[in-house]
Amino acid sequence: MKLRSVRGTHDIFGEQIDKFNNISKIVSKNAYLKDFKEIQTPIFEFSELFAKPLGEQSDVVLKEMYSFEDRNNNFLTLRPEYTTPMIRAAITNNLLNEIPLKIFGIGPMFRRERPQKGRYRQFNQINFEILGTKDFLADVELILLSNNILKELLPKSKIRLQINSLGDKNTLIDFKKNLTKYFNTHKNKLSEESINKIDTNPLRILDSKNEGDVEISLSSPKIYEYLTDEAKNHYEDLKRSLNLLDIKFEENANLVRGLDYYCNTVFEFKSDNLGSQDTLLGGGRYDGLIKVLGGPDIPGIGWAAGIERISLLMESEKKISTTLHIAVTNQKFKDYFLHLQKYLSENKISYYWNYKYNLKKSFTKANTSSATHIIIIGENEFNGNFFTIKNLMTGEQKELKLNQIFHHLNDKS
Ligand code: HAM
Repeated sequence: MKLRSVRGTHDIFGEQIDKFNNISKIVSKNAYLKDFKEIQTPIFEFSELFAKPLGEQSDVVLKEMYSFEDRNNNFLTLRPEYTTPMIRAAITNNLLNEIPLKIFGIGPMFRRERPQKGRYRQFNQINFEILGTKDFLADVELILLSNNILKELLPKSKIRLQINSLGDKNTLIDFKKNLTKYFNTHKNKLSEESINKIDTNPLRILDSKNEGDVEISLSSPKIYEYLTDEAKNHYEDLKRSLNLLDIKFEENANLVRGLDYYCNTVFEFKSDNLGSQDTLLGGGRYDGLIKVLGGPDIPGIGWAAGIERISLLMESEKKISTTLHIAVTNQKFKDYFLHLQKYLSENKISYYWNYKYNLKKSFTKANTSSATHIIIIGENEFNGNFFTIKNLMTGEQKELKLNQIFHHLNDKS
């Protein structure tokens, strides 16, 4: 059997894991600044949590979920997204007693998509949600937060924010009816895939990338004409606030998002340097979703960003490697070396040690890496109860007692 990883999955190590950890650190810092509480939910849930809320006709539910039946005949699904599990967790743990609830989470999601650059079958998301307020300032807060995080992570990347409003559920029903009518009259120019969506999910045709579909969508009915006054005001308030905060945005009337639970504000941050998978971050309002999932009738809004896509745009940071190496010249000094290890650990001094009891090999390794000091343990050191420490940059060598090492390494004079 040839060992291999599952298509669309990746082992994360080296430079990649450094980027991941850096992203998590910056996200958590920004989250705590705005008092979002972290939450972790299980990787699998009952399948029914996803099917209806995400949309029976959405791509995710139709063809991308990893679902299975366990031995107790439970139908389970590896979470394809974080919003529904987070709401489930808020309901089952009574977290909605005090609203608005501001939560965030970071973790792996699973979608059986066709893998390509920036699109994987297991990928990691950062996810923020505010449950329990319809105030447009929540929309602003979340967009501001995502803007800050992306700016901090990708200071040199050009990222575009696009926004749209989908109106309330009734607006959407009306709008979909008219879209279906429109697309039916232009059926002959649409792609096969879009023709299949005319009656089931016409909104998705609007964000098709097929050239013919794009052209037909240009003259399709526009959602803005269908918005209620309340939805229009909400959208206008949002735009005014973004201008006030000097956050640049483009309005994209065809921005509809891929999941069915959205209404009113939707937004995406895109990059021109990612190829076809150009959306770094996406989100919006889902005012009926919490009720559909069995919770109170309260609104919600959130966003998620793909960690892999962000890290594709991140520059690698120069890793600071361990600067202190150890050379033990013979196996018989193992016990003596243990005293040094205990001392270094207690004093939080990091060191490199390669299990080779050979002075020459230890020096070669130290000289070819970024080591600045090497501690030598040999016959003289063992017999004299001291340690030799050599500064590899100056060549200076000193014999020190164990308790003098910390001071010596930190002495900048
Ligand atoms: P989404 O647009 O499906 O939204 O995913 C959000 C982000 O996850 C995308 O912009 C992308 O960066 C990343 N992503 C999605 N699929 C893949 C994939 N196959 N491989 C790599 N990265 C991927 C949601 O998931 C919503 N739950 C967002 C949300 C939160 N809406 C409200 N609250």
